[in-house]
Amino acid sequence: MAEKERVETSEAQIAVHWQEEGYYYPSTKFVAQANMTDETIYERFSLDNFPNCYKEYADLLEWYEYWHTILDTSDAPCWKWFVGGKINASHNCIDRHLKNHKNKTAIHFVPELEEEKTEHITYQELYVRVNEFAAILRDFAGLKKGDRVTLHMPMCAELPITMLACARLGIIHSEVFGGFSGRACADRIVDSQSNVLITMDAYYRNGKLLDHKQNADIALKLAKEDGQIVDKVLVWQRYPGKNSSPAPMVENRDYFVNDLLKDYYGARVAPVPIAAEDPLFLMYTSGTTGKPKGCQHSTAGYLAYATGTSKYILDIHPEDVYWCMADIGWITGHSYIVYGPLSLGASTIIFEGVPTYPDAGRAWRIAQDLDVNIFHTAPTTIRALRKIGPDEPAKYNYHFKHMTTVGEPIEPEVWKWYHKEVGKGEAIIVDTWWQTETGGFLCSTMPAITPMKPGSAGPAVPGIHPVIYDEEGEILAAGSGKAGNICIQNPWPGAFQTIWGDRDRFVSTYYERYNKDPNSKDWRDWPYLTGDAAVQAEDGYYRILGRIDDVINVSGHRLGTKEIESAALVVEEVAEAAVVPVAHDIKGKEPDLYIALKPGVEPSEALSKKISDAICEEIGKIAKPRFVLLVKDMPKTRSGKIMRRVLSSISNNKDVGDVTTLANPEIVTEIQEMMKKK
Ligand code: WT7
Repeated sequence: MAEKERVETSEAQIAVHWQEEGYYYPSTKFVAQANMTDETIYERFSLDNFPNCYKEYADLLEWYEYWHTILDTSDAPCWKWFVGGKINASHNCIDRHLKNHKNKTAIHFVPELEEEKTEHITYQELYVRVNEFAAILRDFAGLKKGDRVTLHMPMCAELPITMLACARLGIIHSEVFGGFSGRACADRIVDSQSNVLITMDAYYRNGKLLDHKQNADIALKLAKEDGQIVDKVLVWQRYPGKNSSPAPMVENRDYFVNDLLKDYYGARVAPVPIAAEDPLFLMYTSGTTGKPKGCQHSTAGYLAYATGTSKYILDIHPEDVYWCMADIGWITGHSYIVYGPLSLGASTIIFEGVPTYPDAGRAWRIAQDLDVNIFHTAPTTIRALRKIGPDEPAKYNYHFKHMTTVGEPIEPEVWKWYHKEVGKGEAIIVDTWWQTETGGFLCSTMPAITPMKPGSAGPAVPGIHPVIYDEEGEILAAGSGKAGNICIQNPWPGAFQTIWGDRDRFVSTYYERYNKDPNSKDWRDWPYLTGDAAVQAEDGYYRILGRIDDVINVSGHRLGTKEIESAALVVEEVAEAAVVPVAHDIKGKEPDLYIALKPGVEPSEALSKKISDAICEEIGKIAKPRFVLLVKDMPKTRSGKIMRRVLSSISNNKDVGDVTTLANPEIVTEIQEMMKKK
């Protein structure tokens, strides 16, 4: 390959030295069965046909009252979709399938222990269980439309049952990833003002039954200190009828759902017609600064977008067996384990555990036994499976027609392994780029229409119109070889509506940067800032380079540096903390934590561990730093700013560059020496 020409860039731009990969094409067999093979879809969803094109997605749903206004921009940039419509997400994911499919599996729940049997929940059974639990929410917990309820649940069938029971009544669910700490749960309870918490006693991870109920006790105590009282805790049981947690049940506060259910046997709760733009759920996400943001997703727009993209990009048909290995505690699980697949009447798999327990063949045994034909996971998992079990997929007789990668950029080498070994050269791959905020996909190839290109997310999906700006607001054209801030020019139905309780932050974080007129009611004046850096190739395909700011993406999970640093500062002895991302061959990135101690405090191993433990406690194990380095001082600019760039170079064994302008250049060599000893 010829050496790439050097691209001249200004300081406002990012140069990209990128080797173009060749195309991969779908098989005729795949194309023959695909949901979308009509290339005119791009034309139908062009800007000329915006916003009316999204009627196609709205029409995939059943409505109590059809909408009259497709897009209302009067409260820009809080867009309202399908105004006037009344709908219920629980009805669309369950009731509407009963007529033809009641005896079909909606959810396969696969326990982590292989000796435990997979549970197959039919649409009829899902209907029964959701109705009975909805009755508990309404009649026992006293919840009603518009109330928020926090869920802190692991991967189990009871999680979508709980979500869909909330949706049935218009209760806004806010699920906190099960692996998050009691502290993280408390912050989200407080921010959303929930007075009911729904949790589970225990779950399996890596062969161990973990006590999860204890987190509820911590969360309630901390939430109370911050002024939010939770008066009821509903506890699902990993083994119905048996308590698997040593944490005591608090009288008149904690209730086992399985005890309550006895009083609600046979209860039926009619789905409540919900206004299209009423919220369906909150999903908290970290930013670089400040507290986590509660992304508020709408009912109709969100569901229409999750359904449409599941149908055309994931190519889900009602007869497919679909397995997304993400956690429902993240947006991927909400859109593409629960709402999208169930809205389409497919069978969706919920796997409790890790794909490497008890060995690296586990995932492929599940795929073989359930005859999975659509598979969805993240680069971090692909890298892990590639590392520990490169020959495992070939040992099992499963056949995927379609695979997804999501969450972070995938290296072309890893993509090729995924295609050849996991996909057995048969499956097509979609590399879907999107965010918690966007509700559904932004960029991806259309599986039967646009060819794949390893490492590249592909063109925008129909109806999404990106633009890449440099720092100055100049548009970077396709093929320029320069990366910049990728923005979306137009609204779309899946986009979040606001940050819960903080409209100003919503506007300033996502819309202020390239806004053309703050008083404008025209969507053309409000490009949506994704916060990612991207480059567009000559053929229109986008390659995402990661966050413009320095959020650390560990195993596909976005962690705010500020959140980690704040957690470190909880430890009394800590004066300053700086987190930088370090490349990790499986997790993608992992955090290194630099700590400056308060004067007079002696560094010690015990103290490093205490700080590391504090982070696991405050945020969760996922944020555990690789190293905690207790340094004498942080490298700082003369104005006192910590030079994260320098720390990051040290952590990643890179040249630190010119440090002579620092206030304390001598510290750099000292830290480099420390790192060498690690
Ligand atoms: C950030 C969003 C989308 C659900 C999972 C993560 C990165 C996501 C890709 C991809 C390159 C990707 C971006 C994005 N990202 N998918 N296919 N290729 N980067 O949701 O936690 O909100 O994170 O993940 O940086 O902004 P999230």
